[in-house]
Amino acid sequence: MMDISVVSGKLLSHRADLLAVLMREGAALPEMNLGGLVARCAREEEFKGGENAVLSLHTHGKIGAPRLALIGIGREKDADRTLEQLRNAASRAVKLAKAAGAKTLAISSPVSGEREVQALAEGASLGAYVFDRYKKEKKPLKLERVQILARKALAKAASQGAEIAGAVNLARDLVNEPPGRVTPRALADAARKMARAHGLRCEVLSRAQIRKLGMNLFLAVSQGSAQEPQLVRISYEARGTPIALVGKAITFDSGGLSIKTAQGMENMKVDMAGAAAVIAAMRLVAALKPPFPVRAYFGACENLPSGTAYKPGDVIAGKNGTSVEVLNTDAEGRLVLADVLAWAVEEKPAAVIDLATLTGAILVALGPWTTGLFSNDDALAAEISDAARIAGEPLWRMPLTPEMEELIKSPVADLKNTGGRYGGSINAALFLQHFVGKTPWAHLDIAGPASVDKERGYNPRGGTGAGVRLSAPRAR
Ligand code: BES
Ligand code: MN
Ligand code: ZN
Repeated sequence: MMDISVVSGKLLSHRADLLAVLMREGAALPEMNLGGLVARCAREEEFKGGENAVLSLHTHGKIGAPRLALIGIGREKDADRTLEQLRNAASRAVKLAKAAGAKTLAISSPVSGEREVQALAEGASLGAYVFDRYKKEKKPLKLERVQILARKALAKAASQGAEIAGAVNLARDLVNEPPGRVTPRALADAARKMARAHGLRCEVLSRAQIRKLGMNLFLAVSQGSAQEPQLVRISYEARGTPIALVGKAITFDSGGLSIKTAQGMENMKVDMAGAAAVIAAMRLVAALKPPFPVRAYFGACENLPSGTAYKPGDVIAGKNGTSVEVLNTDAEGRLVLADVLAWAVEEKPAAVIDLATLTGAILVALGPWTTGLFSNDDALAAEISDAARIAGEPLWRMPLTPEMEELIKSPVADLKNTGGRYGGSINAALFLQHFVGKTPWAHLDIAGPASVDKERGYNPRGGTGAGVRLSAPRAR
């Protein structure tokens, strides 16, 4: 584990294997000039501090650090954008340190308040993440220490940033693990392990108990698989009314009998990213101890075709009694979520928030990196939007168009599980809304940002941990 701390060192004399100096575009070069070398290199390389620009030099003993990297963070836009610029730059600094084989990295930033130091710590830890468990050739991380040069009083902000990034990295691991390993039982075990390590309660319910709860929609999705479904509830106790988090936990989505194409299921191990995010968020809840109870729920299963699989045409009523005509077994997430949401709202939470890789259509609507937010409550939607903006998670609110209800009406049941191609993410959200009653509810469709197909800033290829940072309490 890489240690991240705050030290109040001096730029010129501070000893570290690599000193990374973050710089705004067009700002004056840092105080050390190494006999004019910094200015000359900057001129020759046309380094002006633009976002992602880097100028690396050896200092030949002229300052405390043998290597210096100037990292551009671009021009100032707004406070949230600054945080994102810092996360990216800190991640960049860590990658440079790794490439140089550095054991210690010091980072100096032109802006370093509480939130900025937190963002630097987040970026450093997020950028250091690699998933190489299954590679013969591993590159062990030589980097032992990241020191953020700032006032000592900001130590807490740095440790909070490291804590948050640690939780994001846990979610990334769970998503990146292959689906043959992260079975429903393994995902439940991961929740139990996290809960035990952090003093939370965790209950795991078996198929028989799921049946007793009347969750026939959840059971229907799971019935094509040889793996037993697992219903999980993680609780953090405090006084007051709880907040409920619900995660989609399809450990592999083949589409079932409405089977996907080969290409369409290449990355369908990602379909438990919502559950990974709520497990990680609960780890943060345990660490940051909010003054209200928080409960997380997920129903884990596989969606597979087989002789026992549920079928297009099946009509099933789940926990809250609403009957559903299944037209497409690949619209399975909303079926499982329906039952789990219905269960969560029975406990009368102040709000319920679900995170789900629910629809391909959200990628069509918002592109590959943006979460779609749907909510029946403007205040809740505003709180989540603010949190996402500060956390640097792109998010856009989508409508719950009431006129589109007719698209999910069934001739034989109360609802059908698909509403056609147009507005696919909206009709999926409208479907979920039938299972939350009057509880303030927000649905985050993370099908896009849950994973990326190539490295992007502080996100490595694969699972990103989308939804974790926006769930974390932070300095304001
Ligand atoms: N898990 C998928 C959605 C998904 C797509 C997640 C791409 C991540 C990346 C979901 O279960 C699904 O298959 N949705 C269908 C719904 C359709 C059958 C109504 C879809 O999006 O095509
Ligand atoms: Mn599906
Ligand atoms: Zn799915």
